[in-house]
Parts: sequence; C-alpha cells; structure tokens
Amino acid sequence: MQTQIKNITPESLSEAKEIIEGGGVVAIPTETVYGLGGNAFDDNAVKKIFEVKGRPNDNPLIAHVHSGYDLSALVDYDPPYAKKLREAFCPGPLTLVYPSKGKVSKYVSCGLNTLAVRIPSHEGAQAFLKTVDIPIVAPSANLSRHVSPTSAKHVFDDFNGKIPLILDGGECAGGIESTVCDVTGDIPVILRPGLITKEMIEAVVGVCGEYTPNFQKGERVKSPGVLYKHYAPRCKTVWIEAKNAKNEISAYVAESLENKGIAVLCEEKRICEIEKIGVKCLNLGKNKAEMAMRLYKLLREAETLCDVLLVVEPEEKDGIMVGVLNRLKKACSSEDIQH
Ligand code: TXA
Ligand code: MG
Repeated sequence: MQTQIKNITPESLSEAKEIIEGGGVVAIPTETVYGLGGNAFDDNAVKKIFEVKGRPNDNPLIAHVHSGYDLSALVDYDPPYAKKLREAFCPGPLTLVYPSKGKVSKYVSCGLNTLAVRIPSHEGAQAFLKTVDIPIVAPSANLSRHVSPTSAKHVFDDFNGKIPLILDGGECAGGIESTVCDVTGDIPVILRPGLITKEMIEAVVGVCGEYTPNFQKGERVKSPGVLYKHYAPRCKTVWIEAKNAKNEISAYVAESLENKGIAVLCEEKRICEIEKIGVKCLNLGKNKAEMAMRLYKLLREAETLCDVLLVVEPEEKDGIMVGVLNRLKKACSSEDIQH
C-alpha cells in the first residue's frame, strides 16, 4: 500500500471520507498530536487501528466528534459540571470520560462501561470530522510505545506502507496529548495530565481530583494507558536529576568512547553550561508551552542523533509541565508496569 500525504482540501477530505466509510484508517492532525482515525461504529475499523499500531487490546480509544455533534447520542449521563468544562475548554485539548451508551463498537472501550470523547479545535480536524459526521476513534498516530507524532512526517515514518492517507495539517501547536478527565463521578478526576491543567479545571468547577493508579493485583486500573511504556525513543533514554546534572553528564561523557553517541535534552537556560562539557544539546525551550510543543519532535530527532539521550530534569514543574514531565519520565522508564 502506498501512503499518501495530502494537504487538507475539499478533494482530500472526500477521499478521507471514502476511506473511512470503507472501513479504513486515515491519519489526521489535531492541536495536540496526530491521530490514527477510524469509524467508531465499525468493529473491523476499530480492530484495524489496534492492529496497525500494535496497541495492547486493553487500552481504550478516544472518540473524536465535531463541535456540532450531539453528545447525547453517545453518552448516558452528562453531569452539569462536564457541560461547564466543555463550555470553557472545548473544542480543545480536553477529553472527558462519560458513562457510555454503548452505541459505538465494543472494541473502543475494551470492556469498560465508559466512553472517552474529545472535540478537537484544530481546523483541519474539525473539517474532517464535519465531512464524515460520525465519531472517529483516534489514538495518537505512532506505533504503540513509540514517541507520539507532531507532524505528518512523524506519522509517515511509523506507518509508511501501512495506511493509505495522512492529512497534513502542519506541526501540532500543543505538542502533548489532551488531558483525560473522568466525569462519571461527583467531581472531575484527571486520569492523564495534559494541556488543560488541574488549576484550569478547578478555576471553572471549583474542584478536581487526580487519579493515581493502585497497582495491587486484581484491581482494574481506571485508565489502562498508564500501565504501558510510552513515548520512548529508540535510543537509550536516561533521566538526570537537575541538582547534580553537570557531574552526572560528565561521568557519562568520560565513560563513553565516542562523545557523539551521547546527547543531552535540557531547558534552554542550561544549554551554555552543559555544552561546555563537550556534549551535544537539544534545546527543549525557554518556556512551558515551547517545551510541550518541542518535546516529541526532539525525542524523535534524538533517535538519529545519538545512542544515549540524557534528559535533564526541567526546573519548571507546574501547569502544563505536569504533563510534559509525565511524558518525559515515561520516555525514560524502560519497562511496562507489571499487572
Ligand atoms: O490528544 C489526544 O488525546 C490524542 C489526539 C489524537 O486526540 N489522542 C490520544 O489517544 O492521545 P491515545 O489513544 O494515544 O490515548 C488515549 C488515552 C489512553 O491513556 C487511554 O487509556 C485513555 O485515553 N482512555 C481512553 N478511553 C478511556 C476510558 N473509557 N476510560 C479511561 N481512560 C480512557
Ligand atoms: Mg498514545
């Protein structure tokens, strides 16, 4: 199969619609990362997404709809605080997990009785969703466990020959995935941190919990995605604590035969001091939004640049950095969590 990359035009949108209606998958841009989209009502299309990504079959998918879509067709209960959150942040990088009506394919939620729904704000995503006018399940368009894609080229690198079409909507402005927030209980609970922060949610509805998985045997984890190794570049990736970074990096450099096998990913303000050690630096950025936007691009660049990537703990920790740190730490951990 030849994989085509096409700009978003009326012609490419109707081609995408034809593929989706025929049970195929199409990669689409969103404001967070690119997604691998298929018809949420079609068992075979949903199974194809799991297959082509190599995704574990207990990790549920997000249904994406356009801003005019009638949610009540999909969800059983929509608490008033969820409406407030949608008014404040949607369309945008917020996914809400509702009690499901069970109308989409049973493979979407992997046996959970909930459904995650997101209304992306990216113009191209909205145009695509309006054209097909059905819910589209779309996990991030990367091979399972690999770094998420923020450009059409990233998608092509993972899926060349495996999917027919990538709609090219430019580089993703957000850079990390949406915040996933459970709205099945009395208060919203964040399952995956992202671009809409706990503080932003609290400012709208007064309260917001955070889910920390309890890995005790037998317990069904609320958001199965948290169990898996994620966002990992194909080079060895090592977490370096901020306080002793220079010494640790120097030790790595002294041990390696060829320094060009090592690169460092760090905040812009640390580049000068670290480059003095004689090692190549990748500039994560000078502010939080920049760091989120550049993160995946740099992790993918590191794969061709070095054998070992040393990730220096950023000093910034709050706001969207909670999400950035969550992804960076997962990129540095080598194994799935056993359960
Ligand atoms: O920004 C995003 O959310 C991107 C773009 C393409 O929209 N999509 C994305 O999808 O990140 P994915 O499949 O890579 O991550 C979906 C996350 C996983 O952690 C999954 O476990 C969780 O959402 N999830 C999906 N449905 C769920 C449900 N019913 N209950 C709890 N967690 C759910
Ligand atoms: Mg993903």
